[in-house]
Amino acid sequence: MAKKLFNCISAKQFDRELLLELFVLADKIRVICKTKKGADFLGNLLSHKRATLFFEQPSTRTFLSFNNACQILGIKTSDIRNITDLSVSKGESIEDTLKTIHSYSDLLIIRHRNESIASNISDIFQNSDKPIPVINAGSGSDEHPTQALLDVYTIYRAFNGKIKGKCIALIGDLKRSRTIRSLIYTLTNFEISKYILISPDELKAPDDLIKYFNYNCITYLESNKLNDISEADIIYSTRIQDEYDVNNESKFIDYTKYYINKENINLIGKNSIILHPLPRRLELSTDIDSDPRAWYWKQEVNGLWIRTALLAYIFDVGKSISKYYKNKASKR
Ligand code: CP
Repeated sequence: MAKKLFNCISAKQFDRELLLELFVLADKIRVICKTKKGADFLGNLLSHKRATLFFEQPSTRTFLSFNNACQILGIKTSDIRNITDLSVSKGESIEDTLKTIHSYSDLLIIRHRNESIASNISDIFQNSDKPIPVINAGSGSDEHPTQALLDVYTIYRAFNGKIKGKCIALIGDLKRSRTIRSLIYTLTNFEISKYILISPDELKAPDDLIKYFNYNCITYLESNKLNDISEADIIYSTRIQDEYDVNNESKFIDYTKYYINKENINLIGKNSIILHPLPRRLELSTDIDSDPRAWYWKQEVNGLWIRTALLAYIFDVGKSISKYYKNKASKR
């Protein structure tokens, strides 16, 4: 039996059994959703639930995919995307604001620059008279666990479930990427053969991740050369996270050495895949979007289905979905 997940705060909470259960559930949901009958079935499952999406940092795909995932399951949503719209601008404390969200919701999905806020709120909500789940949709430069779910779900689909033994190259701003930290924690469940950590010297992986590799006896190589991607089955590119600059230091870093484009794409093996959490800037040229190795737009779509599966799992309707799939959808 997979460990029951109530809150989703850190990718360290994921074990292999849980991940495989979510991947299988996401595959079923995307099939069921293809028909009106199936979509209506899903849309009735959680129509008695309400969610608040509180996004204090900018987002396009995490916000939209969670909002749509809620709609697929019938969950009604409210959103807060601009803190100045809240009564905190009239002097209310953040604690009272959260108490109010708690009063009106059955689920909180939160993105915030404060690295510990999701974890702190989940402790408060869990110990209240009405425990409600909290999902971390990005906590500063620390973690983005549901991004890791869609990243690993994409790898699982790209390689027909065979993740063991694959080599992954993580490229770019390894120092401040929350998606990379959560991805590494999640992939620890799948016996990756080697991590190639490619970055400018200024943006090397932080000490905590290097310690994590050493503690878990994980093979890794640190490099500042893009050419080292040639060994990898999975290429994971990231944008420079200059929103976390203290003194505009990103301006002095030559990130162009890490751009992937038509000129250098053949450094990558023909059966390898290219991923990116998006949004991108120039590190992935649009001229490679139609290359069969470019999986990042499929990766983004996978985010909708795996987040729907996560919500279904948290609210315990996975079994009903599997039953429906067995009786109806799989027989089409
Ligand atoms: N990958 C990701 O978190 O994208 P958004 O910032 O658009 O949500």
